[in-house]
Amino acid sequence: MATAADYAEKIPNNVGLHEDRRLQRALESWQPNFLSWWESMGPALPTEDVYLRTAVNVGREGWAHFGHVAMKDYRWGIFLAERDRERRIAFGEHKGEPAWQQVPGEYRADLQRLIVIQGDTEPASVEQQRNLGATAPSLYDLRNLFQVNVEEGRHLWAMVYLLHAYFGREGREEAEQLLHRNSGSPDAPRILGAFNEETPDWLSFFMFTYFTDRDGKYQLGTLKESGFDPLSRTCEFMLKEEAHHMFVGTTGIDRVVQRTAQVMAERNTDDVAAHGAIPLAIVQKYLNFHYSVSLDLFGSETSTNAANYYTAGIKGRWMEERRKDDHKLTDDSIMVDALTDGEIGQTEVPALTGLNTDLRREYISDCQSGVARWNRILAGAGLPQRLALPHTAFNRRVGAFAGIEASPAGELLTSGEWNQRKDAWLPTEVDKTFVRSLMQPVHERGKIAAWIAPPRQGINGKPFGYEYVHLS
Ligand SMILES: [Fe+2]
Ligand SMILES: [Fe+2]
Repeated sequence: MATAADYAEKIPNNVGLHEDRRLQRALESWQPNFLSWWESMGPALPTEDVYLRTAVNVGREGWAHFGHVAMKDYRWGIFLAERDRERRIAFGEHKGEPAWQQVPGEYRADLQRLIVIQGDTEPASVEQQRNLGATAPSLYDLRNLFQVNVEEGRHLWAMVYLLHAYFGREGREEAEQLLHRNSGSPDAPRILGAFNEETPDWLSFFMFTYFTDRDGKYQLGTLKESGFDPLSRTCEFMLKEEAHHMFVGTTGIDRVVQRTAQVMAERNTDDVAAHGAIPLAIVQKYLNFHYSVSLDLFGSETSTNAANYYTAGIKGRWMEERRKDDHKLTDDSIMVDALTDGEIGQTEVPALTGLNTDLRREYISDCQSGVARWNRILAGAGLPQRLALPHTAFNRRVGAFAGIEASPAGELLTSGEWNQRKDAWLPTEVDKTFVRSLMQPVHERGKIAAWIAPPRQGINGKPFGYEYVHLS
């Protein structure tokens, strides 16, 4: 049975918060700080209310409720997936032992670090997207933006709960820091590079939710395997919400490509800019940028930290239990990207140190499915053009290829060649200015901007023309 969420409390939860007064008080004292962060760093567009999904339970019979709510009154809560009392650790040197209900002393620092890094990305994306509401292409899209924002806020709550509940005073201090650091701040930036980039327009937003939020999905997938059961259960529930974020990115890019393809076919030209659509070449450049910075988020191709986390049982692989091997990997090896004699190539390393590469590859094949989908839209419109993922060596700032430059096709370039040609591959100021010029708000019911196709369906069975957002 699912534990029913306790809605009588200030903080909706299914973790029995009322049984632990100290923890409850700690979280209640963090809550006003969260709310003032939301007011100052969350969505800037003033709204009355928004048609939002709120997590209310974790059971199979429906975990969410839809309704119009004022965003500042959103019920950010703490939900863990149901506990499996038989759960055992699936990998590493503790494989087969019962999952931990408390933090093992020897792994305390590592677990705390992993939770802080994950926690830092959640509010960061809200900050990055703060000003997007002002240029939403429709009320439907505006609602989806806010849905992603409130849920990233809830994911921050999820990580702060773990810090408060299991990591004592240090955990509470880290929870404060999660509100203190801000995306792009010169003094106290967010931990990971991609989360300090602004999200200035909706094409960037869709690319971000497709590529960068998808990194989050994969990170959560590895933490869901953790031997530390509360972390595992937290991430399992967060992944439910992430599915909608992925949907927003995937269908957002679908709709951009669909509109572009439509104008290309109708006007028989690639130059759709004059007709208010986004040229495919610009879509490709945005894709190149967001994909390459997201690859960096997986870290170096080889990592002793990743090996140690795995062996310790605190961070597993994507779909760990479906893998057909010994789940210890001490005798296995993997080919990873590398510079070999100055050339772009691969090298063999122990499977344990290559785990970042293993995860990145899972991610890449998932990204490939998006590209295939967008290419089907182009093919369906009778167009020969195709989108593609750039080579892993392209535009990298982390890992084996950080020190070199490569084309999207994977040919090694001198820095001179790179500087000459990079404007053909990455968004230029002119491209960005053009995209921004299209970002005129459409806040009327049932209307949509000219650069994007309407969605096939609305949200939760409502029509596209539904009043998803009441502006104030
Ligand atoms: Fe999230
Ligand atoms: Fe997300």
